[in-house]
Formats: sequence, C-alpha cells, structure tokens
Amino acid sequence: MARNELQRHSYAHRVVHWTVGLSFLLLLLTGLAFSYPSLFWMTTILGGGAAARVIHPVAGIVFSVGLALMFFMWVREMFLGQLDWKWLGAIKAYASHDRAAVPPVGKYNAGQKLFFWVESILGAVLLLTGLPLWFPADFGGDFLVLMRLLHYLSTLGAGLFLIVHVYLSTVAYPGTLRAMLYGRVTAGWAKLHHPLWYKEKTEH
Ligand code: HEM
Repeated sequence: MARNELQRHSYAHRVVHWTVGLSFLLLLLTGLAFSYPSLFWMTTILGGGAAARVIHPVAGIVFSVGLALMFFMWVREMFLGQLDWKWLGAIKAYASHDRAAVPPVGKYNAGQKLFFWVESILGAVLLLTGLPLWFPADFGGDFLVLMRLLHYLSTLGAGLFLIVHVYLSTVAYPGTLRAMLYGRVTAGWAKLHHPLWYKEKTEH
C-alpha cells in the first residue's frame, strides 16, 4: 500500500459487496424483462425467456445470501449516533458541497447508514415476497397478487436508492469507487469525506 493510502474495505467485504451488486443488477435486468413486454428483448442476452425465468430466482438466492452476509459484516458500524442526526440536519449543505457547514463524520455518514438499513429491509421483503412467486402453485390467487405488488414496490424503492448510491459513489464523489474496487482510499479523500475516521486510523 502506498504511503498516502488507507485501508478501507477488506477483501471479504468487497467480494460480498460485489456479489450483492452484480446479483442485484441481474435481478433488475431479468425482472424488468418479465414485467414489461417492451423490455422482453433483454432476455436474449441471458439465453432467452425460459433461461431468464430460471436465472431470476437463482440470482435472488445469491442476492439474499450476499445481503445477509453483508448485514452481519457491517451492522455494528451502521447504528446512528448523535453526530449522525446532526449530519442529517445539514444534509442540504452536504448535497450542495458546502463542506464547512457539514459536521465531521466517522467511517460512514448518516446517508450511508440509512442506505444500509433501507436496502437490508427491502432485500428481506424482496426475498419473502419472491419465494411464493417462485412456487405459485402452492399459494392462492389473492395472496399472489399482494406478493407481486409488494415485490414490485420494494424493487422500485431498492432500485431508486441504488441509483442514488451509484451516483454518489462514482460521479458525485470521485475517489470513492476505488474504496470498493481496491479496498484503499487516499489520505486526502479520507480527510475530506470522513475526517473522524481519518483521525482514528492515523492517530496511534
Ligand atoms: C452495482 C453498483 C454499485 C456500485 C458502483 C457501488 C459502489 C459502492 C462503493 C464505492 C462503496 C464504498 C463507499 C465508501 O467506502 O464510503 C459502497 C458501499 C456500500 N454499498 Fe455499494 N455499490 C453498488 C451496488 C450496491 C448494492 C446493489 C447494494 C445493496 C443492495 C450496495 C450496498 C452497499 C452498502 C450497504 C455499502 C456500505 C455503506 C455505504 O457506503 O453506502 N451496493 N458501494
């Protein structure tokens, strides 16, 4: 590791994160293709409609196992404290890059923590509503309609939050993506975005 770099995410954390990320994209691709006839053509890159119908629930299991691992690996760092509520109060300043007005944060800011909780909860809803849709013959019609509605709504929510997550991790805050690709960030990035974490990592 270069002298001005800090270790941020372990290899295991990165493997789990990208397993979740890639399986989620596969789920979106196959799920959208089933739901909208105009998007059915997307199944051709996955081997056709029948193959996509098998790939979707299998990717769902990979996603759910990945998300459960992610939950237990990250949860200790994701509880909100007093500083987080202050940070949320200054979210406008954060969004407009008015750095002086944003309270200093530790390893994760409150937005990242809330994203973790939202995706964990919606991920569980996706699994619980997806299982009856996988084996429809075992369930009644009205129940399946409700499960399908909740499955769509949680996909919409998880998908919208993911768009914000990808935008913030790439375009909005350059230097962040490398944290999840190589596990390391520059000291400058750490000082700027997570000053309390920077202090913790360098002061001993
Ligand atoms: C597929 C595109 C994705 C990209 C480019 C991406 C990128 C990143 C990056 C760069 C980080 C590190 C942020 C930091 O160190 O401060 C991160 C963290 C994280 N990612 Fe992703 N991610 C993606 C998909 C996902 C998905 C699908 C989920 C869950 C459903 C997810 C959940 C998380 C969580 C919980 C964290 C830790 C908290 C946070 O930094 O927000 N990511 N991601």
